[in-house]
Amino acid sequence: MRRSGRGSAPASRWAAAGLLLAFLALAPGPARAAVSGPCSNCHTMHNSQNAEPMAWVYSGSSKVADATPNANLLITDCIGCHSSADGSSWKDSVSGAPVVFSMAEPSFGATADGSTHQGLAAGNFYWVTQDDTFGHNIFSDDVNLDTAPGKSTGCSGNACHENLDQAYVGGGTLNGKSACLGCHMVSDSVTSWHHAKDPDPLVNSSTQGWYRFLGGHMSGEGLGVSGIEDDDWEHEPSSSVHNEYLGQEGDKTGAGGFAAAGNTVSAFCTGCHGNFHIQDTTTAGSSPWLRHPSDAPLPSSGEFSDYVTYDPLIPVARPALSGVSSTVTPGSDMVMCLSCHRAHASPYYKMLRWDYRSTTLATALAGCGICHTRKQ
Ligand code: HEC
Ligand code: HEC
Ligand code: HEC
Ligand code: HEC
Ligand code: HEC
Ligand code: HEC
Repeated sequence: MRRSGRGSAPASRWAAAGLLLAFLALAPGPARAAVSGPCSNCHTMHNSQNAEPMAWVYSGSSKVADATPNANLLITDCIGCHSSADGSSWKDSVSGAPVVFSMAEPSFGATADGSTHQGLAAGNFYWVTQDDTFGHNIFSDDVNLDTAPGKSTGCSGNACHENLDQAYVGGGTLNGKSACLGCHMVSDSVTSWHHAKDPDPLVNSSTQGWYRFLGGHMSGEGLGVSGIEDDDWEHEPSSSVHNEYLGQEGDKTGAGGFAAAGNTVSAFCTGCHGNFHIQDTTTAGSSPWLRHPSDAPLPSSGEFSDYVTYDPLIPVARPALSGVSSTVTPGSDMVMCLSCHRAHASPYYKMLRWDYRSTTLATALAGCGICHTRKQ
């Protein structure tokens, strides 16, 4: 689970131990590793014991037996392991799975206003059950949106990814792939990412399951997101305890995706929202901007030079990743999609990380003001 060797310095070699401790203090926290525990916590061989099904699914907030076996002999589906009927569990007590859907208001994770908890790093799907605009609609149709805003043309002129709540049908207009598997490329072509070990803090290959199992189907599983994974998924983030995201400056003349924007999380988002990466001008990639830039460095002068202590509420992406750092370096660190948005859902309009639409001006400005420090 955790990388072994932490604190195992030879007691007789004080100098060496001191050096090692100094190194460990600087080294990032242990990377997330594979699932662990008895196989039977998560798998069932025949989905039958005493002729009763072993598999289960949620029906509302109750667990009910499920006679249909799951792929990979799993005991439940993605939502089964990654949900909680209450608002306080952030990790499933049996499997250890991080909770991304709380059926009651989550009482864990970062807050922007000191009271409303957002959930783990990606936010919490609870919020989209409260308001359609608060998240990706994986449970039901989005009443406002018929497609992914900012989608670039592709799919032979047809729209890619019209929704995330319906099953994939292929050809023509593309539904789905639905829900979790629309984004996390786990399991239908046995990827085994839940069992993949992460020997290094930096997760940057398919063998390691990419960052949070975020791959890209257009390039097979050969391209995905690189990053450093906080070991409790930002359950209690601080300036020194958080995920690390990769950014790539690149040019802003084409839609995103991994080919154009590298192994970055912005590349991942722009796989479906590609036009939000394009700067429609011949002077693409500099001020004046026609769309808020993503993966553009914070200038090292002016108001931006005051953002120097990393705030996990408004993360930045780095040009290269070696460890977790509590420092922001204007001039090289970048604004990106997740500087402003949560990936799953948040308590705010358009999955923003703070209440941009608040009628209290200080609250509305809070997120923008972390970077635009002199606009408050
Ligand atoms: C039987 C329980 C179970 C099922 C079913 C399950 N997961 Fe998980 N998942 C886990 C556990 C446990 C972890 C945490 C592993 C660890 O400690 O690093 C996890 C971790 C994850 C992570 C985070 C990986 C990381 O780097 O921290 C993602 C993303 C994820 N699962 C997605 C899915 C998706 C998508 C599905 C459906 C295809 C799914 N899971 C089905 C148990 C499950
Ligand atoms: C629109 C794309 C998208 C969909 C749909 C989606 N995820 Fe995620 N998920 C992400 C991204 C991006 C991250 C990484 C967020 C970060 O690190 O800030 C993530 C993170 C996670 C994590 C790690 C915990 C965390 O909050 O960082 C788990 C577990 C997970 N997702 C499971 C799921 C499950 C289960 C589903 C379906 C119920 C799902 N995801 C649907 C994009 C998605
Ligand atoms: C905490 C939950 C959990 C536990 C414990 C667990 N698994 Fe899994 N396993 C999963 C999930 C989730 C998947 C499917 C998703 C994926 O492949 O990433 C999976 C997939 C698999 C697969 C299919 C993919 C592959 O690698 O070929 C095998 C085989 C497997 N598990 C065997 C085992 C065995 C054997 C044990 C006990 C030693 C075990 N698992 C324990 C969650 C678990
Ligand atoms: C697999 C395709 C896909 C990916 C990848 C994806 N999205 Fe989306 N996104 C959609 C679709 C489809 C919609 C419209 C329906 C809905 O809200 O789910 C949407 C809607 C949104 C909305 C508006 C939500 C609303 O209900 O008004 C925001 C904001 C958003 N996405 C941001 C992101 C960010 C940030 C990322 C990267 C972490 C991302 N998306 C990755 C497909 C995707
Ligand atoms: C993570 C840091 C960050 C956050 C948060 C952020 N911005 Fe920016 N913003 C930038 C960077 C970097 C630029 C590009 C500056 C440059 O290249 O001159 C920029 C440019 C802009 C510009 C265009 C200025 C021009 O030169 O054309 C506007 C307007 C703007 N931001 C408004 C906002 C608003 C409103 C918010 C809150 C919703 C916000 N920004 C949040 C980093 C950020
Ligand atoms: C500086 C903050 C900021 C950054 C960076 C940012 N967004 Fe947004 N985004 C917003 C705000 C604020 C809105 C709400 C609409 C508005 O005010 O323009 C929004 C709206 C959206 C929407 C919904 C549009 C609609 O029609 O409903 C999507 C989708 C979206 N963003 C995706 C992305 C993606 C993908 C990226 C990275 C390429 C990104 N955003 C980067 C602040 C940001």
